[in-house]
Amino acid sequence: MENIKVGIVGLGRLGKVHAKNLAENVQGCQLVAACSFVQEELDYAVTELGVQETYKNYEEMVKSPTIDAVFIVSPSGFHCEQIQLAMEHGKHVFSEKPIGLDLAEIQETERVIQSRPDQIFMLGFMRRYDDSYRYAKRLVDAGELGELTLIRCYSIDPSSGMESFVKFAGASDSGGIFMDMSIHDIDLVRWFTKKEVSKVWAIGKNAAYPELDKVGELETGAAMVQLENQAMAILVAGRNCHHGYHVETELIGTKGMLRVAAAPEKNLVTIMDETGVVRACSQDFPERFREAFVNEAKEFIACIKEKRQPQVSAYDGLQSTKVALACRKSFETNELIEIDN
Ligand code: NAI
Repeated sequence: MENIKVGIVGLGRLGKVHAKNLAENVQGCQLVAACSFVQEELDYAVTELGVQETYKNYEEMVKSPTIDAVFIVSPSGFHCEQIQLAMEHGKHVFSEKPIGLDLAEIQETERVIQSRPDQIFMLGFMRRYDDSYRYAKRLVDAGELGELTLIRCYSIDPSSGMESFVKFAGASDSGGIFMDMSIHDIDLVRWFTKKEVSKVWAIGKNAAYPELDKVGELETGAAMVQLENQAMAILVAGRNCHHGYHVETELIGTKGMLRVAAAPEKNLVTIMDETGVVRACSQDFPERFREAFVNEAKEFIACIKEKRQPQVSAYDGLQSTKVALACRKSFETNELIEIDN
């Protein structure tokens, strides 16, 4: 089978990572088109990645007969509209998380996706393609931990990325910390337990970065979550991690516990010097999830070639967004929110 020809929209913080992977690290596909508002990003795609077609208008890109599939890495508020347009033009679609910011729009998008079962749709919950999370999932599914009773999740961005985050959040709505960060944890909780969330209570605080107030964002948010079978989750999300990028997950079951990345170590190197015994930390999402981003792109291309839908669906996008929106509402109203599943 010929290479799958891909067009990408968004060449920002994450778009460049996906674009490079599609151009260099994923076999069976060719990155042929790119769309961005920023000319320097398009120039980069042509000179560094060999892209042949560039666009400032997304609709023009999805109309191009050259491309078979679209990778959507634009800001979250555009995802639904862009997924629908690509689907309607007969393209396979990979979309970054969250699937959207508005429930009615997501439900409409899910209907469009379901009406075209021969086109592949995949959502970018890349942690499901990370080796450590996959290992943990196999243990849980084999019953090694017994019944899961509590899941504790940390997703804290590095303070070193504050400037670029404030720019990102100022340029377009991220959906807030629960939609932008905790959504990965919410997906993990649903994936590990195979249960839906029924209630949330969320709180948050800004302390060190007044610029976050100006863009309506939280420095630290936390949520208590109850699932339909009374299992629990505790979500901690943040933007102010001084040691790097801290993503950690703990699963507590009736027969045992496990932690994924109990300390967010960069690699297997231990340095012993005058400061003590030092393990360096992972610094950002492209570093921590480098392999996962490649794995998910490989899976998307494999699904197109093998004519099968991937495991992460639009429904997972809808359900996780419901929970993230409930967290935001709970933070705003200071009330316990029940979720209608
Ligand atoms: P960014 O702000 O760095 O880049 C946005 C890009 O989209 C720019 O190239 C801009 O020109 C382009 N763009 C904006 N509006 C557009 C439009 N209407 N049409 C065409 N191009 C448009 O954003 P970043 O951080 O790369 O995030 C993009 C998406 O990726 C977001 O949805 C975010 O939630 C997601 N993301 C996911 C991560 C993960 O861990 N899976 C990590 C970081 C981001």
